[in-house]
Amino acid sequence: MRVAIIGTGYVGLTTGVCLAFIGHSVYCLDTDESKVKALSAGKIPIYEPYLEELLEEARPNLHFTSSYEEAIPDAEVVFIAVGTPPTPSGAPNLEYLSQAARSIGQHMNCKFTVVVNKSTVPIGSGNWVGSLLRDAYEQRSTDRKLESAVASNPEFLREGSALHDSLYPDRIVIGADEPRALEVLYSLYRPILDQTFTAPTYLPRPESVGGVPLLSTDLASAELIKYAANAFLALKISFINEIGMLAGRVGANISEVGRGIGLDSRIGPRFLNAGIGWGGSCFGKDTAALLATAAEYGLHMPIVEAARVVNKRQRDRVVEKLLAELKILKGRTIGLLGLAFKPNTDDLREAPAVEIAQKLIDRGVRVKAHDPIARHRFQADHPNMGVQICERATDVAEGCDALVLITEWNEYRDLEWEEIGKRMRQPLILDGRLALDGEKLERAGFRYVEIS
Ligand code: UGA
Repeated sequence: MRVAIIGTGYVGLTTGVCLAFIGHSVYCLDTDESKVKALSAGKIPIYEPYLEELLEEARPNLHFTSSYEEAIPDAEVVFIAVGTPPTPSGAPNLEYLSQAARSIGQHMNCKFTVVVNKSTVPIGSGNWVGSLLRDAYEQRSTDRKLESAVASNPEFLREGSALHDSLYPDRIVIGADEPRALEVLYSLYRPILDQTFTAPTYLPRPESVGGVPLLSTDLASAELIKYAANAFLALKISFINEIGMLAGRVGANISEVGRGIGLDSRIGPRFLNAGIGWGGSCFGKDTAALLATAAEYGLHMPIVEAARVVNKRQRDRVVEKLLAELKILKGRTIGLLGLAFKPNTDDLREAPAVEIAQKLIDRGVRVKAHDPIARHRFQADHPNMGVQICERATDVAEGCDALVLITEWNEYRDLEWEEIGKRMRQPLILDGRLALDGEKLERAGFRYVEIS
């Protein structure tokens, strides 16, 4: 099928590459011409495992352009995957979405096209996009009726495992009020739903994946599913962090508590890792947007609100624990292991490291840091923050009063701890992700403290 994707951010690019890989002819459009140029030359602006390899394989079916005229008129399906960044009120900024919808409407021809909201958009956006499309189309041509339908197809991919989540999803949700739109999207996703494509060698199909369930709903339900899923995951993490606070007081082990409750199949083991809490561009933005939508309807959502409060508190726990251990922070040197908001990405949006580094700097601490991938981006994004970036994890330790594990990159699990300890002023480590082997660290002479 012929597909157009508006926006080549995380979601748009991953979706485009995956759809091209399974055989569709995909036009990825971005208004940023330098980005289009770079992508056409195979240069990917984000760090995402295997994206470069899959793009190379999908290249014969992929086209990068900044021209709506080229991408839209022949497309059977148009995905809108533009950014919806938060505004100060928590409600998302819909400027890019409306620009995209208008431009699509101006270039659509009269044959049936499905326009799909892939961006996380407020409930009701489907109808709004539909009216923008119609207005833009009618301004241009009034003699032929617009044949289009709007659908919502939220994505559930995680950064760092975006391709795996797109090729082997837990489910595909399609919200459409018109049956024709569902039929088109069903055909589009069929190779994924039936898992009939040949899996790339570097992204093998997990044995447990057979067919993928398709959930077809009305527009508003699909839009709400996206917000509710992210809010639920966020509150699962905040819940274990709240229990972690109590565990610390009563002398319980939060990792074992998490395992113990997660083995209940009604609860499930995932997203119960305690620590400094969630970051990234999604949970914060989507929980804020959910609260903003609820407020529009005069509703209060205390559970979602509490998830945000607890998450904020986890960041303060780092400072509290360091104060408890070191008594005085002014004049100390503290090393951060990890800057990205999670491993396998270079994304620093709402990364706990940024907030924690600032809190420490505000208290007169000298901050050093390392990240296997995100350190260069950090330097570019925060040149004046005063964090000393080190090329190697071991260099961070030099002269430090404490290390804090912020991002659980695999390479941090097996560092030369004895060597690292010798370089520090005192061998103290705070494990912000409960990811290190505490006993091993203690054998290497460290005082090991968990943040929960
Ligand atoms: C999240 C959702 O998991 C995706 O399903 C969704 O599609 C995406 O948002 C989105 O809306 O675009 P993402 O933000 O990429 O994905 O990453 P997650 O793996 O969910 O991690 C989010 C944060 O939670 C990270 O900072 C991670 O370290 C933290 N986390 C995760 C915990 O603190 N504990 C856990 O047990 C799991």
